[in-house]
Amino acid sequence: MADQFDLTIIGSGPGGYVCAIRAAQLGMKVAVVEKWATLGGTCLNIGCIPSKALLHASEMFEEAGHGFKALGIDIPAPQLNLEQMLNHKSETVASNVGGVDYLFKKNKITVFRGIGSIPAAGKVLVTPQTGSQTEIVTKNIVIATGSVSANLPGIEIDEKQIVTSTGALNLEKVPNKLVVIGAGVIGLELGSVWMRLGAQVTVVEYLDRILPGMDSEVARQFQRMLQKQGMEFKLSSKVAGVEKQEDGSLKLKVEAAKGGEAEEIDADVALVAIGRKPQTEGLGLDLAGVALDERGRVRVDGHYKSSVDGIYAIGDVIAGPMLAHKAEDEGIAVAEILSGQAGHVNYAAIPAVVYTNPEVASVGKTEDELKADGVEYKIGKFPFTANGRAKAMLATQGFVKILADVETDRVLGAHIVGKNAGEMIHELVTLMEFSGASEDLARTTHAHPTLSEAVREAALSLGDGAIHI
Ligand code: FAD
Ligand code: NAI
Repeated sequence: MADQFDLTIIGSGPGGYVCAIRAAQLGMKVAVVEKWATLGGTCLNIGCIPSKALLHASEMFEEAGHGFKALGIDIPAPQLNLEQMLNHKSETVASNVGGVDYLFKKNKITVFRGIGSIPAAGKVLVTPQTGSQTEIVTKNIVIATGSVSANLPGIEIDEKQIVTSTGALNLEKVPNKLVVIGAGVIGLELGSVWMRLGAQVTVVEYLDRILPGMDSEVARQFQRMLQKQGMEFKLSSKVAGVEKQEDGSLKLKVEAAKGGEAEEIDADVALVAIGRKPQTEGLGLDLAGVALDERGRVRVDGHYKSSVDGIYAIGDVIAGPMLAHKAEDEGIAVAEILSGQAGHVNYAAIPAVVYTNPEVASVGKTEDELKADGVEYKIGKFPFTANGRAKAMLATQGFVKILADVETDRVLGAHIVGKNAGEMIHELVTLMEFSGASEDLARTTHAHPTLSEAVREAALSLGDGAIHI
């Protein structure tokens, strides 16, 4: 007799595991199929969590080396213990994936280890690394198989010297020269880690700007801040080839995006961070009749249903920003929909954060998008140089920018560059969730002295004026 479930989820990343927990809470009998040895997917194992462990540790190293003196703390130059820093990262991952194990047991979720495939609606086949296949009979299936790093044609990833983010989270020593291909979130976060630990970092970006999709004014100013820290940028450029030299180093051919004469750059390590692609291989989706879109993502309707009844998809494997919290919220929504509730994700209020120093955080529309849409907007801005707490913390880089509708004052988007921007953005996310106006924020008392006062001041500047500038 095959195992029978109400819901079977393929993939245990933030989309899959959160969906499983909510579905179990709502009374379903739930199975999760995972091909990796540990639960938690990209985010917990090789993404959000390990990268943040290294970002935090490397920021502390940088701070101890360059930030303490001005605060009156004289210490000898700090010594890097990379092995321990990587241990800290591994322990952080272990503790987080262990947390998912605990939550699954608590919610009586059954885990099947192996590659999941879908021979037809109502059935999932699990193929373990060794041993025989298991067939699961299930009322519904959620595909939550996430994404994998995209690669450049002709460049072979060895995860030692030519690496994706996975290898870049595990370098055995600090490279003298690191070339990052792609000035997106991964390139800037992991480029920052290794730069702080001593690498000379050059970022090669195809477009004429960094962080495509972010507000372009924010991206421009943030690029200057990174340049001040020592990061070099080659914009409007592409890597045409990477060769391994006899001395063990790499030679990268870099040419203008439009083509033309190539320049050669030496590197010890090259990080390919040009985006991620949906992971659908091995699922047998063509057999099951599940349609994909033009970019290989599972095509779903407004209720996350694929082209086949009983088969749903969420997270990185469908359209939308490839973010853990977006995957989680879709996981909750689909579990609610399957139990007869009105599950919903508000895509207009999904925050995005780049965890560099300073951090970059945004929600809603960028100024570029509002211009393109012909919306009449007003801009409220406030710099951290005028914020008392930021001065006390020597963290005056950056600013808050709020975009509101000229007529209704409704907040349409917000962008923050600054220390703890990733925490501060949430009051704007909440405001937007409630369709709030900038005046609502401007009239809200903020504790003094906090960095968040800069957020309120930006809102005040949309009315009768900010106080402290
Ligand atoms: P995933 O987390 O990719 O999980 C998919 C799971 O499915 C995996 O465990 C995989 O093994 C399994 N699987 C795939 N196919 C099968 C199969 N056929 N059978 C069984 N199992 C299968 N996002 C943020 O919001 N914040 C961050 O700070 C952040 N940092 C990141 C840093 C890095 C270096 C990377 C690479 C990504 C980062 N992301 C971040 C993105 C985030 O990791 C993803 O958006 C998120 O993990 C997507 O969740 P998911 O559940 O859709 O898929
Ligand atoms: P990305 O899409 O953020 O950036 C890729 C960059 O590479 C873009 O700037 C693109 O123009 C550039 N590029 C593409 N092809 C190129 C080429 N041939 N040569 C030079 N440049 C090229 O992708 P990234 O950084 O790989 O991250 C993947 C996903 O992971 C993102 O969607 C992101 O949302 C997610 N992520 C989120 C994080 C966070 O929320 N803090 C952290 C890390 C990843």
